[in-house]
Amino acid sequence: MVVMVVGGNGQLGAACCAELRHRHADVRASVRDARRGATLADAGVDVVELDLTSGSDARRRALEGAECVILSANAVAPRQGDRPALVDRAKVELVDDAEAVGVRRVVLPSVPVTAADDEVPLVRGRRELEQRILSSPMESWVLRLPPFMDVWLALVGSSVPLRGEEHATLGRPSPFLRRFRRVTGRLVEDRGVMLVPGPATHRHAFIAVADAARACVEAALRPDGASGPVDVAGPEVLSWDDVAAVYADVLGRRVRVLSAPAAVFAVAARVLAPVADVPARTMALNRYLAESESPWTDAGGGLVEPPTMTRVEPFLRAKAALPDRPAG
Ligand SMILES: NC(=O)c1ccc[n+]([C@@H]2O[C@H](COP(=O)([O-])OP(=O)(O)OC[C@H]3O[C@@H](n4cnc5c(N)ncnc54)[C@H](OP(=O)(O)O)[C@@H]3O)[C@@H](O)[C@H]2O)c1
Repeated sequence: MVVMVVGGNGQLGAACCAELRHRHADVRASVRDARRGATLADAGVDVVELDLTSGSDARRRALEGAECVILSANAVAPRQGDRPALVDRAKVELVDDAEAVGVRRVVLPSVPVTAADDEVPLVRGRRELEQRILSSPMESWVLRLPPFMDVWLALVGSSVPLRGEEHATLGRPSPFLRRFRRVTGRLVEDRGVMLVPGPATHRHAFIAVADAARACVEAALRPDGASGPVDVAGPEVLSWDDVAAVYADVLGRRVRVLSAPAAVFAVAARVLAPVADVPARTMALNRYLAESESPWTDAGGGLVEPPTMTRVEPFLRAKAALPDRPAG
């Protein structure tokens, strides 16, 4: 069976490719530029070029012969010139294309449901895509995943989680993200400050990207689809204060939490929306996290064995032991 990872160069996408190879599955990965797919090809992945926004014919050619699609591509950290709304639209259209060429199953890594969903363009798009997939005659797995520790424990002001990561989401050449990271990328290790969206007491079942990939791959390879969305929690629920304590222990320095309220992000998103789409969407996404918690206790969501999942403390300790140099 051929499993196609759409967005094979992303952090989760690449981890899904690695996990599929580990499980001896035939893997096809779509990338936008074949030159950026060399590492995947070296690992035995069949690499095809596909820009999701390039129309139905291109999408169908890329999908032909795939039995399962893991739909991981997204425009959260877009390249210069990318238009996130078009990517969201193209992902819904890709579901039509997948049905047309006979794909049997779709796996969607998605995000938790919160009261702020309607206010956040990225999440609105995700709910539309979920609905389209869940109402399809194809088998489906919609996995609602909590914040990735590889991403969010860096986004709060550290470069430690990025060590050794070739496909880091936060390493993407996304102009707005690059500017933000230049200012905040080492606050935790250099200043002992963690910049957190929302209250320091908010709790999340942080999951490692490698475990999220194991869940996606298990969903792809299981005999059956799911009957509805599945929450896939990480192995423990921690508040931001707990994360700061882990950082303090791992780095051997005091770390305090600076909390940015949801209202600040909401106003910034509203002011920026007419003039700067990507920064506005990023602010809205921060608002989403600032207002929400994902304190689920069902580690692995029935797809991954909880005792085998990575916890925050060993994750950060292992990363901190790696050389401190830019990813890649
Ligand atoms: N981060 C979290 O905390 C979190 C939590 C829950 C769920 N999730 C979900 O998990 C997934 C994360 O995936 P990831 O880590 O692989 O993302 P990522 O690191 O941000 O990578 C994005 C990928 O999408 C591709 N892409 C963007 N625009 C495209 C287009 N027009 N056509 C084709 N490909 C395009 C990129 O290709 P290029 O390299 O060519 O730009 C890249 O491969 C997302 O679905 C996200 O919503 C994330």
